[in-house]
Amino acid sequence: MARYRAPRGTFDILPEDWPYWNYVISKAREVAALYGYQEIETPIFESTSLFVRGVGEGTDIVDKEMYSFKDKGKTDLTLRPEFTAGVMRAYVEHGMHTRPKPVKLFSIGPLFRYERPQAGRFREFHQFNVEAIGSQDPALDFEIMSMAWQFLEELGFKGLSFQINSTGCPKCRPIYVEALKKYYMEHYDEICEDDKRRLERNPLRVLDCKNPKCQPVIAGAPKITDYLCDECRDHFSALRRYLDTAGKKYTLNHRLVRGLDYYTKTVFEVWAEGIGAQNAVCGGGRYDGLVEEIGGPPTPGVGFAVGIERVVMMLKAQGVKVPEPRAPEVFVAYLGESAKEEAVMLSQELRSEHISAILSFDKRGLKGQLRDANRWKAKYTIIIGEEEIARGEVTVRDMESGEQSNIERKTLIGWLREKLGKKS
Ligand code: HAM
Repeated sequence: MARYRAPRGTFDILPEDWPYWNYVISKAREVAALYGYQEIETPIFESTSLFVRGVGEGTDIVDKEMYSFKDKGKTDLTLRPEFTAGVMRAYVEHGMHTRPKPVKLFSIGPLFRYERPQAGRFREFHQFNVEAIGSQDPALDFEIMSMAWQFLEELGFKGLSFQINSTGCPKCRPIYVEALKKYYMEHYDEICEDDKRRLERNPLRVLDCKNPKCQPVIAGAPKITDYLCDECRDHFSALRRYLDTAGKKYTLNHRLVRGLDYYTKTVFEVWAEGIGAQNAVCGGGRYDGLVEEIGGPPTPGVGFAVGIERVVMMLKAQGVKVPEPRAPEVFVAYLGESAKEEAVMLSQELRSEHISAILSFDKRGLKGQLRDANRWKAKYTIIIGEEEIARGEVTVRDMESGEQSNIERKTLIGWLREKLGKKS
């Protein structure tokens, strides 16, 4: 029994998981390049108040889930629970508004939320996060959604469902919220205690309630799309026109409100089959007031984030084949102590020639070494014994065909380079 275990809600990404992670991360970089997005890395912790202002008081993230602490200089800091607020902080801090707009940025990295862990929900998790900053154009909302779409589809997902909604703007949303509250007050006895609290703190979240008791009330609730101002309505219909013209299938989901306060107009999620209750692999939307909220100039923006753990779970569940890690090209085996020295030196020479090479350590007999070579799935095994050294030769076994040849030590590197198809 190990004395220490990874903290609850965290996990190790083991070597056998990395082919999946590398596959997802390289696809993220590939798609980002296709759409003209550049990478940005922000600190893992930021001022606590950045998230309180950005994500919003009354949201679950700020009220319950932040890893906040004072450092030794008594500064209030928080491990980032999401990327968007930090990326906007960097945008303002570095005066990025002078760059050609929209400024298109992506990030890949860990986030922290003190949530109740379950399948697909962790306390440390990772996102591929994308932001397009500085344009109100609904064509940019379309671009962002298309990018999420292409990323997930090219990973090999089946059964994706796109959910979209508009959450209006500070002009029209308050009118909707009043109508929603009024309706809920009329049904006060039919709703759960959580919803009664939500009505006070964050009324839109009642639409997201999973309690069976509340479902009939939600079904009859007023719809935000009936309350949108002209600007929000035009924006939403332009986006839907783009989606329709492109033949993208989506569900107009009146209950989709998202858990962060900064959203305006477009919100969307991508749900996937086969990963249980936590089925949102991607969430995003427009946040036209966020930069101003954190002290920058009025700047619109739109973006999304994909949860990498959920994507990896899905790839495994759907049996998607990912590229295997490359096996070593050469395994160097030795017979006896003086041959061992020769083997150690030869492995070093091979690596400096960019031929990947491994060997066994400690006292290991030839049989055991050959078993290691098989386990590593090396292409060739070189066997060095005292006799071979005396003859100035080595034995090379092609591990696939089993064919064995004696090669002059002097010509070995050239011989291997040719066999491995390496240019000299
Ligand atoms: P979010 O919906 O909170 O949005 O997170 C996006 C995705 O991150 C989720 O759909 C899910 O796949 C993954 N995720 C979230 N929490 C967890 C968790 N505890 N464990 C595992 N995966 C998780 C945002 O974070 C926004 N900042 C996205 C955005 C960018 N909006 C505009 N720009």
